[in-house]
Amino acid sequence: MDVTIKIKRYNPDKQAKSYWQTFNVKDIEPTDQILDVLHRVKWEQDGTLTLRRSCAHGVCGSDAMRINGYNRLACKTLVQDTGASIQVEPINGLPVLRDLVVDMEPFFDHYRSVMPYFVNNNPVPADGRERLQSQEDRMTFDNSTKCILCACCTTSCPSFWANDRYVGPAAIVQAHRFIFDTRDEGNAERIEVLSAPDGVWRCRTIFNCTPACPRDIEVTRVIGEVKLAIQRNGKTDGIVQISEIH
Ligand code: SF4
Ligand code: F3S
Ligand code: FES
Repeated sequence: MDVTIKIKRYNPDKQAKSYWQTFNVKDIEPTDQILDVLHRVKWEQDGTLTLRRSCAHGVCGSDAMRINGYNRLACKTLVQDTGASIQVEPINGLPVLRDLVVDMEPFFDHYRSVMPYFVNNNPVPADGRERLQSQEDRMTFDNSTKCILCACCTTSCPSFWANDRYVGPAAIVQAHRFIFDTRDEGNAERIEVLSAPDGVWRCRTIFNCTPACPRDIEVTRVIGEVKLAIQRNGKTDGIVQISEIH
């Protein structure tokens, strides 16, 4: 099949504003990725087309973009999902550097702000074994371990578009992974960050983030669990979780 792909272009060295450019690409299979179509444009028609990608298999999270109006990974979206008329633009809410490439640093600043790492300064148990955890305790944050930091959720959130100081759903998912880890002891500091005016309460439960997630993380529910944990001053006991529902 032949497809038409309309791409939002921007080159700060040449244009003051972005503009749309349309390309026709022949002999595309319905099972080809949108990333394949973009590669065909770049390799056969316009080598200046600029985009991020790496793994091409939904693992690295680098090729988030708006495809026909929805935040998606270009490598996980097939032509049979979009049809022959495709529109591609950069994700919203982050500065565009060139074509489909945005500046991810503000996103990673929010990520770093929630201390997305294991904190426990106590000595390891005297028997020299690892800090053990039950399977049930591990399941309480299983959902949030799947995040690949693609930014599809944060850049689909109208609350983030309105106020880019909002820490955003991706950072909250990352915080959840450690807040619900029974071995971690960093919750007091994390909760201080997340309780701040631009923390978790900026989430107005708009729900755009959940269908945007390519890893099928129930982002809005994860945020709700973090809100409950904050209301309980960091204690996570008794919060009904995804792992208990499914
Ligand atoms: Fe991407 Fe999902 Fe992680 Fe958000 S929660 S950054 S959409 S993988
Ligand atoms: Fe935004 Fe998702 Fe909350 S879209 S407002 S972070 S539920
Ligand atoms: Fe790695 Fe798409 S290129 S997730």
